[in-house]
Amino acid sequence: MSIDRLAMDQMTQPGLCIKTFGCQMNEYDSEKIVHLLAASHRLVESPEEAELIIVNSCSVRDKAEHKLFSLLGELRDLKESRPSVVLGVAGCVAQQEGQELLRRNSGVDFVVGTHNLSLIPALVQRARRGGERQVAVDFREEWEELPAAFSALELEGRTGVRALVAIQRGCSKRCTFCVVPTTRGEEVSRSAEEILREVRLKASLGAREVVLLGQTVNSYGRDLHPRASFAALIRRIAQIKGVERIRFTSPHPADVHSDFLDLYAEVPQLAPHIHLPVQSGSNRILRLMKRNYRRERYLQIVEELRNRSPQLAITTDIIVGFPTETDEDFALTLELLREVRYHSAFLFKYSPRPNTAALSRFSASEEVPPASAQARFQTLQEAQDEISLQHNASLLGRQVQVLVEGASNNIRSLLRGRIPQNTLCEFAGDSADIGSVVHVQVEHASAHGLRGNRLS
Ligand code: 5AD
Repeated sequence: MSIDRLAMDQMTQPGLCIKTFGCQMNEYDSEKIVHLLAASHRLVESPEEAELIIVNSCSVRDKAEHKLFSLLGELRDLKESRPSVVLGVAGCVAQQEGQELLRRNSGVDFVVGTHNLSLIPALVQRARRGGERQVAVDFREEWEELPAAFSALELEGRTGVRALVAIQRGCSKRCTFCVVPTTRGEEVSRSAEEILREVRLKASLGAREVVLLGQTVNSYGRDLHPRASFAALIRRIAQIKGVERIRFTSPHPADVHSDFLDLYAEVPQLAPHIHLPVQSGSNRILRLMKRNYRRERYLQIVEELRNRSPQLAITTDIIVGFPTETDEDFALTLELLREVRYHSAFLFKYSPRPNTAALSRFSASEEVPPASAQARFQTLQEAQDEISLQHNASLLGRQVQVLVEGASNNIRSLLRGRIPQNTLCEFAGDSADIGSVVHVQVEHASAHGLRGNRLS
């Protein structure tokens, strides 16, 4: 087929708009959905241009679910004026609600769960033929490999500098606040061969930084036969040509052992950054959350990591206002945050989730009043912003190495990338810089990132 024909075909193909909420696993799933549909669709930005709209949903907190429902309300209006548009909901709310989502949202044509992405092309086709509304949310035992999604042809031109690669799905930890085991199923490790194949492919297409994804990445391989280990996997990935930086998200403190810690001293490609969710600084709350570690152990891990990698940036997730949290519990969290001096922290107010142990265990009287949760959240945010700013300001006037990812989200004329510690850095540069590591002199620091001048 000539190039012109190809271009023409692409122009006349139906538009696909995909909206993604939530975590990087969802982003990764959305990439797969796009690959699965790429042969027959062109990707468009807005629902108005689309014939097919897929919303990849998140249910980790109540707020994310609300965003989904208000978007579905808007899309119902759009479908009233253009009934030929097909609307599908994927992701964690889809998995959690199934049929109920169809019942409550008249505009939705299909609901597809987290283990059934490969069914999407067939669901779309049936919806276009005017078939019944469909739900596909059965959990599968096996890992769903999507060969079509990982052929070089499909990925060409769509592989960024930073490649997401899932190594594990689901979670078997049962933290009492967390919905993930019911939305993504039990923990299952992906085969190392498949992981390496995907990393090689993406590296050959220009990826320089690999981000390995899983709910508790460092427990990788325990369910495989023969057993495999996360540390061994990292060492194999580090040998792949083109992979300059390796990151992963997120490890669980209870699964940190010495082979994991030693990676930080021994694997040069491993970026000097770890996102290590702590959730609370109070042992009483950690126990109620069923986190399986104590504050003292967490702090010991931090120390051991820093001994092995003095430049290491540590970031975290914290939940405030878990049921029964007292001022004393909260004070312990604040103290821990100051002791670790995180580079940044994602702070959340506790949100009761369906099918979780915390939801059934605690009564309304044990909940932290919203005003107290809000006050604690603010106190923690202010403390963290100050520390983040101090970390970033310590780089003023210094040279940093930035792996350039693309245009800045804030100011389109600037480029953006990350320093090894994962801090975002913006600078004026040339789009030819995208994909390479450039030296930038830091001129400005905020709690959220850096800005500077590119040095030639
Ligand atoms: N309420 C508030 N925050 C939550 N998280 C997970 N579940 C909840 C919940 N029910 C936070 C945790 C987790 C991050 C991804 O989201 O901090 O690490």
